[in-house]
Amino acid sequence: MSFHDIKYIELGDNETVEKKRGFFSVKKLVFLVFAALAVGFFHPYTNCFSEVGKASSTSVSDSVLCPIPSKVPIKEHDVVQYILTDKEYQKGVIDRFSKSLQVKTVIYDNTKDYSEMQKFHDYLEESFPLVYKTANVYKVNTYGLVFHFPGSNENLKPIMLAAHMDTVPIGDPSDWNENPFSGRFDGDKFYGRGASDCKNLLVGLMEATEKLIADGKSDFERGVILAFGYDEEASGWQGAYHIGQFIEEKFGANSIEAIVDEGPVMFLDFMGDYYSMIISGEKGYSDLTVEVNTPGGHSSLPKDHTSIGMISRFIYDYENDPFEAILVPENPMMGFFECAAEQGHLPKPLADAGKSARSDKKARDVILSYSHDNTFLKYLLRTSQAIDIINGGDKANSLPRSVTAVINHRIIYGNDFDTIWSKAAKHGTTVANKYNIGLTVNDEVLFPETENGNMVISYFGTPLKTAKATSTESEFWGEFTGLIKSFYEDEVFPEKFETGAKNFIITPSIMTGNTDTRHYWNLTDNIFRVQPGSLNIFDANVHGPNEWVDLTTHLQSISFYYNYISHFSIKGE
Ligand SMILES: *[C@@H]1O[C@H](CO)[C@@H](O)[C@H](O)[C@H]1NC(C)=O
Repeated sequence: MSFHDIKYIELGDNETVEKKRGFFSVKKLVFLVFAALAVGFFHPYTNCFSEVGKASSTSVSDSVLCPIPSKVPIKEHDVVQYILTDKEYQKGVIDRFSKSLQVKTVIYDNTKDYSEMQKFHDYLEESFPLVYKTANVYKVNTYGLVFHFPGSNENLKPIMLAAHMDTVPIGDPSDWNENPFSGRFDGDKFYGRGASDCKNLLVGLMEATEKLIADGKSDFERGVILAFGYDEEASGWQGAYHIGQFIEEKFGANSIEAIVDEGPVMFLDFMGDYYSMIISGEKGYSDLTVEVNTPGGHSSLPKDHTSIGMISRFIYDYENDPFEAILVPENPMMGFFECAAEQGHLPKPLADAGKSARSDKKARDVILSYSHDNTFLKYLLRTSQAIDIINGGDKANSLPRSVTAVINHRIIYGNDFDTIWSKAAKHGTTVANKYNIGLTVNDEVLFPETENGNMVISYFGTPLKTAKATSTESEFWGEFTGLIKSFYEDEVFPEKFETGAKNFIITPSIMTGNTDTRHYWNLTDNIFRVQPGSLNIFDANVHGPNEWVDLTTHLQSISFYYNYISHFSIKGE
């Protein structure tokens, strides 16, 4: 996934994380969310860290806001344990995953030629022959891959699992201690570009499916679709967009039971508990172009303000008027605060606020004020704005005529395009009146052009609404989260739950960026972004130089999805 906006995030204690080229990995995102939570929430309550063990003991049986999922029995317990522990089996896994990292699938924002992706196809076909033999394999828009295993029961909608083949660039090679494309495994970690984002997941899905077939379990009652885009890091218009169209044409709208795509790892040790933050919504998106046109002329006889001065005034005002923080029930972060408040170890004022935020404005204000000074958490609760491009002026001795700026916005739940238009109109009006120029906003002439010129504010590119949030009340949510709970508490980390000191808290959440899933909205209402794994997010240097993923996380991807597919798609006895 890509996050182009944020360059530096203060983590407190003089710790600054630099984002190479502004790119983040999923794990780093989660790291930042929690770093933000830590800084934002715990600063005034530093003693809470040391008291985590004995913090508020919310009686979970009273919980109504955030029901704890009921465990769902792990049908493939034996195979799950085999995958997690068998060294012989793991040798093949290690070899195949390492090879996937040796195939360069780097893309740039302006990549036109994707032919390198063919090498990744070749690698997949060679490594996972049973998948290729058993599935209907579709190459969508040349390099998109869809593997379809039809189900015998047509009344059951297929499940879809998504990932992407492409990776971000390596940045400055001298920042790497590892060869970014060697796929080196040191006995614990794999190093290489794409290790975490997101070849671990993609190859894990292939491994799981290959093994199901090898074990004679490909008699699916419910269909299974694996869908892999190849330009997720550049918005998915080549890969996921065409895959979405293809699936909608072939199976129809709303024809998929549920889609799970890349996201934060399922098991995070944080704030005295374990968290699974399932991304169930995404912010909207809108870029605006602001243009100031004036007559120009010789700069020895200037007006008091040139078009550069006028647009500067607009930008200055715009930046100094941030969007208001807002927490509406549709924002999955409401669910996050409720779950953390009920089941976690938050400081008491915040826990109290989280419990009544849905109905009590004062409680919401407590949460919003916590978020206020925090670079990252802040933007899970408000629309962001960033002036990203400015152009104008062409000669030292002539007045600039047309000057333009582009403002990027990520729209929070509770705001919409009109929120942005009204702010643009407000500051446009100030400038138009002050300098006696015209103003046109979103094709509407608010003030006619004058002899001094005008300002025109319009869409730049195609805006995107906030994603319809996936319900946490559906049967599927219950089953999915129940599987996650059983998988981690009973299969992967039973020892961590022996004392009962920490809870495993499964919550909805959102992201500030978008993934391929925006292209899949028509296919299902159940869209989740989360992936198996338990990386230590506090020291994982994930998406910058020396990107890595640990073997454990990779084995969790394979075993979780082996069981997941078996659970949903293979007939019970
Ligand atoms: C989803 O369906 C609507 C209505 O048919 C259509 O306008 C829209 O383009 C579709 N979205 C995608 C991503 O295909």
